Amino acid sequence: MQLPIGDVPVREVVVDLGPRSYPVLVGPGARHALSAVVPAGAKKVAVVTQAGVGVAVETGKDQRTFVIGDGEQAKSLTSVEELCRGFAQFGLTRADLVVGVGGGVVTDVAGFAAAIYHRGVAVAHVATTLLGQVDAAIGGKTGVNLPEGKNLVGAFWQPVAVICDTEVLSSLPPREYRSGLGEMAKYAFLGVPGLSGMDLVEAVASCVACKASFVADDERETGALLGAGGAGPGAGSAGHARPGRALLNYGHTLAHALETEGHYDLRHGEAVAVGLVFAARLARRLGRVGDERVAEHDRVVASYDLPSRLPAGVDTARLVAAMGRDKKATGGGLTFVLDGPEGLEVVAGVGHDDVLATLAELGPGPALR
Ligand SMILES: NC(=O)c1ccc[n+]([C@@H]2O[C@H](COP(=O)([O-])OP(=O)(O)OC[C@H]3O[C@@H](n4cnc5c(N)ncnc54)[C@H](O)[C@@H]3O)[C@@H](O)[C@H]2O)c1
Ligand SMILES: [Zn+2]
Repeated sequence: MQLPIGDVPVREVVVDLGPRSYPVLVGPGARHALSAVVPAGAKKVAVVTQAGVGVAVETGKDQRTFVIGDGEQAKSLTSVEELCRGFAQFGLTRADLVVGVGGGVVTDVAGFAAAIYHRGVAVAHVATTLLGQVDAAIGGKTGVNLPEGKNLVGAFWQPVAVICDTEVLSSLPPREYRSGLGEMAKYAFLGVPGLSGMDLVEAVASCVACKASFVADDERETGALLGAGGAGPGAGSAGHARPGRALLNYGHTLAHALETEGHYDLRHGEAVAVGLVFAARLARRLGRVGDERVAEHDRVVASYDLPSRLPAGVDTARLVAAMGRDKKATGGGLTFVLDGPEGLEVVAGVGHDDVLATLAELGPGPALR
């Protein structure tokens, strides 16, 4: 697609979903291409953002900004109701557009509000965190939390476009940036080699392309349920059957347990980093990989200056219990995405003893920054 963005070198990655396909535009200044992705016929644009984001967008339409709160508590049905009521008062119609401008919290909430307002109105995302750019804004998973748990209510609702303007990342708090690097580290094992040597634009675009390929192959994450055997892109073996979107959760079983159970001061990407080095050691314990592959996980995580040890004072029994409640758990042992000779696979029935022993092996590290 030709975009009227002057000399700004924006890379386009397409999420290939047939009639729901959409472009992801990556590069410094990419936000200036937003007006080019507004659907023909849209007269009004509802911009959803947070006070701290500070990224202005211009669509050339009758535009109104709706501000939601910060943090996981803002990912609520209350926020969605407030937004939908605001949209109605604004006179937003099914022909119009919602634009989420922010990190994963904003794009999850704006996307869900768009999915249900008038039974579905188009949404575009301007992802303003590194985590949002390489993960949260791509793929159409939207939703909010309940007091009973994270992301329990939601919908698959693909955006019409996603914009990853790398320029806006310069205002991110350093810790938020590092959190994005944790999610990025995951892609090094999902088929994006040489990631740590790339410049930012190339790295974001490569992660987006990787996520897009998984989403295109398994839009609603049913692949793993059908049997996850076979090589993934992580094995560098294009042409094999794709094993499903669930592999995007590499490193996440422990990460989610640390986030929900731990009450530790951990950002999501930091928890994923610990989850990656743990998953490598668990795979080694199960005879799936050797020392060199474990060392490679350690190297990648260290190259991003991310934590690779459990928080001090961690209660491993509680972590294991939390992992048993993970969405992927199917009963009779724990379920993980694990590396192996065939690349990443969903492995069910992992014994508690192996998990506990691996957690002990990982050991507590210095206090996390
Ligand atoms: N839908 C998905 O597929 C998916 C995938 C991964 C994560 N998520 C969700 O994403 C959320 C986490 O997203 P996140 O890590 O982006 O955190 P976030 O959305 O909470 O953003 C982090 C902080 O950075 C601020 N911020 C955003 N952009 C900024 C900028 N350019 N400059 C300065 N400050 C800025 C935000 O206001 C916020 O305070 C979680 O709720 C998670 O469940 C969703
Ligand atoms: Zn994640």
